[in-house]
Amino acid sequence: MSGTYDPGPQIAQVGGINLGTKNLESSLWFFRDVLGMEEVLRDGQTAYLRGYQELVHHSLVLTEQSDAVVNSYSLRTQRPEDVELFHQHLQRQEIDVVELPSGREAGRGEAIRFLLPGGDHPFELYYDIEKPLAIESLRSRLPSNSSRRRGLGVRRIDHFNIQTDPGRINHAERWVRENLGFKRREFAKFADSETIMASWMSVTPQMHDLAIVANSLEKSGQLHHVAFNLENFSDSLTAADVLRDLDVSYGTGPGKHGIGQAMYLYVHDPGSDHRVELYSGGYLILDPDWEAIEWKPVDFPEGLTWYGDPIDTVPGSRGRDTTNSAPLRPDSLAS
Ligand SMILES: [Fe+2]
Repeated sequence: MSGTYDPGPQIAQVGGINLGTKNLESSLWFFRDVLGMEEVLRDGQTAYLRGYQELVHHSLVLTEQSDAVVNSYSLRTQRPEDVELFHQHLQRQEIDVVELPSGREAGRGEAIRFLLPGGDHPFELYYDIEKPLAIESLRSRLPSNSSRRRGLGVRRIDHFNIQTDPGRINHAERWVRENLGFKRREFAKFADSETIMASWMSVTPQMHDLAIVANSLEKSGQLHHVAFNLENFSDSLTAADVLRDLDVSYGTGPGKHGIGQAMYLYVHDPGSDHRVELYSGGYLILDPDWEAIEWKPVDFPEGLTWYGDPIDTVPGSRGRDTTNSAPLRPDSLAS
């Protein structure tokens, strides 16, 4: 080996999500006042928030608009130059890419936007993001916290769970592994089929940063949920108590997943109706030779729910429809 080691462009982490909401004040009440996230910036009808252990500018953008779609799923690259390298990689595949200038999301540098092949979810890749100090009255004495822990104690964004048409899911799942470097960690296929029912993948030692699940209504571009991380299981139980008293809708949980072994509580943001998972625990994967764990269909419900209420990602089970993604247009973040 000679010269400088260059692994090529890589995704470092899930960076953030931009949720459309029909009622910004109601969504802010939920994410800021109840979950305890810090409102870093308000810019007109757009608000930027972060958890108390996120030093970066934001991981959640709330945009008031007429349709409560997901405007973007953002992934942060490992190095500044990776954004352009991924851009070139996408162009070689003749995938349409929209270049977003610095500041398109406040605090964030240049980004690229494209629709996930096979999924139609609007993905954005970026590296540069500011790390502002919280206002003095919110600061923690712990330098690894961007603010004092407040509310239900959301530490950070954890993962996306997106859905796509079963006819396209294999393509979407393979594409993120082969082109963005996600590793398959656990998965399930439909009975007597090579079609993936669900796949949990990560670029970090977390069991998953991104899950892709077949949509039982055969729709692509769907969000099932976005997850935010709590420190431990007891925080999930406290959250359930508090949310019940506040009449915030949650139909599933608290319970524990067999897949990933984390505690879950699924709630709906009352402003946007997007499904949010409050997620704690789980195991880490440090082995370089990890072999993806396959869940057979007969065991799949237990994988989703080790204990607690059943989860509606199983085709035919209860639950609301999921929410759509915004299309690939330069102006698709506009309210
Ligand atoms: Fe999840």
